[in-house]
This record gives sequence, C-alpha cells and structure tokens, in this order.
Amino acid sequence: MILYRAHLLWSDSLTELRDVKEGGLLVDDSGRIVASGPFAEISRQHVGAAILDLRPHWILPGLIDLHVHLPQYQSVAMDGLELLPWLKTHIFPAEARFADAAFAKAAARKFFGDLLSLGTTTAVVYSTIHQEATDAAFGVAESCGIRCAMGKMMMDQNAPEALSESTETSLHQSAELIQQWHGKADGRLLYALAPRFAPMCSPALMRGVGSLSESTGAYIQTHLAENLAEIAWVKQLFPDCATYTEVYHHHGMLNGRTLLGHGIHLDASERALIRAAGASIVHCPSSNAFLQSGVMPLRRWLNEDLSIGLGTDVAGGPTLSLWNEMAMACTVSKLRSALLEEAEATMEPVEVFHLATRNAARALGLQDRIGGLAVGMDADFLVVDPRQVDPGERAEDAVEHILSRLVYRADPRMVKATYVRGQRCFAQGS
Ligand code: GUN
Ligand code: ZN
Repeated sequence: MILYRAHLLWSDSLTELRDVKEGGLLVDDSGRIVASGPFAEISRQHVGAAILDLRPHWILPGLIDLHVHLPQYQSVAMDGLELLPWLKTHIFPAEARFADAAFAKAAARKFFGDLLSLGTTTAVVYSTIHQEATDAAFGVAESCGIRCAMGKMMMDQNAPEALSESTETSLHQSAELIQQWHGKADGRLLYALAPRFAPMCSPALMRGVGSLSESTGAYIQTHLAENLAEIAWVKQLFPDCATYTEVYHHHGMLNGRTLLGHGIHLDASERALIRAAGASIVHCPSSNAFLQSGVMPLRRWLNEDLSIGLGTDVAGGPTLSLWNEMAMACTVSKLRSALLEEAEATMEPVEVFHLATRNAARALGLQDRIGGLAVGMDADFLVVDPRQVDPGERAEDAVEHILSRLVYRADPRMVKATYVRGQRCFAQGS
C-alpha cells in the first residue's frame, strides 16, 4: 500500500469541483483507491502504509481521450483541406504504411508514450485495417500500462485500393482481435469495433458490427455528421434512411457502448435516436476547427442531456493533449456565442474538465472505475505542478483559477507523472 500525499482535485459534477488541500490517496497493491481525503486522518488509520510525499504537486484523475487515431499521429498539422480530400491526400497513404507491423509497433510506442506524458490515462483508439498492426499496438498498450479501448479500422466499400478489405475479412479479423484482447490485463484493455463511417461501410458490415458488439460487449466507435460533403455522400448512398444517424440506427450500430465522433450537424430526430440508444457523442473541437467541419453546439446538447465526452481526433486535431482540447472546447463555445444573435452560456474550464474525466468515464460505462479519486476506483491519476503555468508563482489561489490556468496555459512540463491502476507509467525526466 502506498499513501500519496498531495493536494487532491477532481470533478464532482458539471459545475462542482472537489479538492482536499492537505490530501492523501491510499492505493493498495492491486492499484485500487482504498482511502481518499485528508492526509492526517488516513495516515493515522493506516500507520503501516509507505508514504510518497508529492507536495507541492497536485493529484488529478487521469484524462480520458474518447477519439484518437494512432496511425495518423505522424500526419498531424497537414493544413489546407476539408475532410474528404484530406483523408485521400494525407491520411490514407499514412495508414497504408501500417501494413508493415514493425513500423506499426514503433509508431505505437511513440503514440502511447506521448499520450501518457500529457496526462491521458485512458484512450479510445482507431488502428488501421491491419490485424497484425492492431495486435502489435495492443501489445504495446499492454506493456506501457495505459488503459485503452482500441479496434482495427473497418471499411469494405469506397476505400482506396491499399486499404480495402472484404466484409467477411473485416468482421472475422475483428472477432479474432476481440477474442484476443477484449478484457485483457484485468480489463485494462478493451476492444472498440471501428467501422470508419457510413460511406465506407456496407449494410452487411454495419449489421455485423452491431451483432458483434451485442454478443461480446465490445464498444463501437465511428464518425457521424462531421462535414457537409460527407453528409451529402451518405444521403446519396443510403436514400432510404432519413438521416445519417438513422443509417447507423437502422443497421444496429447504436447502443449504450457506441461512441460517435464529431456529430456536428445533427437534427432533433437524430439527437433523440442517440439519446434513446444511450450512445455518446465525442466532441472534437480542435479537429472540427482544423478541418473546417463546423461548430458543434456543445452547450445546447449538454442541456438536452446528451452524453458527451472529448476527443483529440489526431490527426484531425493537431495534438494528443486533452488539455488543449479542453481549452478549445471553451474557446470555440465563446466564439460561437459571440457570433450567434442569441447569446448562449459559454463553457468553463470546470465543465470541460468534467467532460474529460467523469463524463467520459460514464460514456464508457466505467464511472465506478475511472474519472475520479473516490474510494473503490482504480488509481488512474496524474501528478501536476500548477506553478509551472502560473506567471505569479502563487502558492495559494482559488481552485477554479488554478484549474483554469492548467487548461488555458497547458504546458507538457506541468505533468510530472502519470499512474494507471497504481502503476507509474510516465515520470518526467526518466
Ligand atoms: N471520417 C472518416 N474517417 C475519418 C478520419 O480518419 N478522421 C476524421 N476526422 N474523420 C473521419
Ligand atoms: Zn476521427
């Protein structure tokens, strides 16, 4: 058992933070939090525990990235194109290189290492169509200690030659990977089926994905209503479905474990389908801006009780930093409010921090396990030094101001260490 001594900070609800200034977090040998609260009290009750004094650093719950593409990491910041030409010009050639499993393994090491160094402890990841590369990436995730849900990309129509696969191969290989990895490392590794998006998935593939998810408990991740040209293409391919969301619903892809990336351009009937299915929307504001996809009305949809988390969507977004994504969510909502005739409440750091921790955990059905610092949860946390981003080098300030500086002024140097299930997976300078 280790008792970590630090200022604890986590999100209690969309608008409320919890913090314990002279805090203690007691973690048992299996990586579970067994006590969380005032250090003095916990150290009195557990006299035998080894103490690790992290002061003046703070402990926060690990961040959860609900949408990111491993094979696209090297293609970040390729500017100038919208979604469909960007995929064709920059992304598909990059993904084709993952036919080489050794290349894929090296890329996975860099990818997961960088995620951990930025304070992300859980990531929901797209690999490429390649089974071997996906298997290798799972192996890297297993050994580096990150928590991750991942899946091989699936696309059986309208895909470029080098990334084409048959419906049967796509489903068969995904089923094999589920068998191999879903629930492994005591549930730290999970499978997320990854049908790319409706234009590149046949009806048979989508139905197969839905039934695999039902029979195995695997997640489903896909893209939805991101870009107007994409939406027009879906309408043309699926004329019998009234909306883009209806395409996924009709083919059995919407359930409580479905994560829908972007979802910018959705009408009320689509939002109702998503809500009724218990599916979640992954808001990717930096990608939405970078690819000029549009502005998702985050506040409005939170008010409608949609389940929403955040995703960096690398390489649509330029960085793996969820801090950056939280800042973008705030900034974009302010610009949206300024440009709208009817102003709406803008998003604040306390709220986007909730989206990146508690809300994301709930979207994954893991709200009792991750996203907070409560007793019974797994010890997935990061250690930060708020002084790193404070020009005033204040020792004392309101906790909201401190969180706000971490979000708006995020600097990789502020993350000192990252722990998943009590295991240190990253430490600065080592
Ligand atoms: N839609 C289909 N594939 C992709 C992708 O790789 N990235 C993004 N941002 N949107 C997509
Ligand atoms: Zn994406």
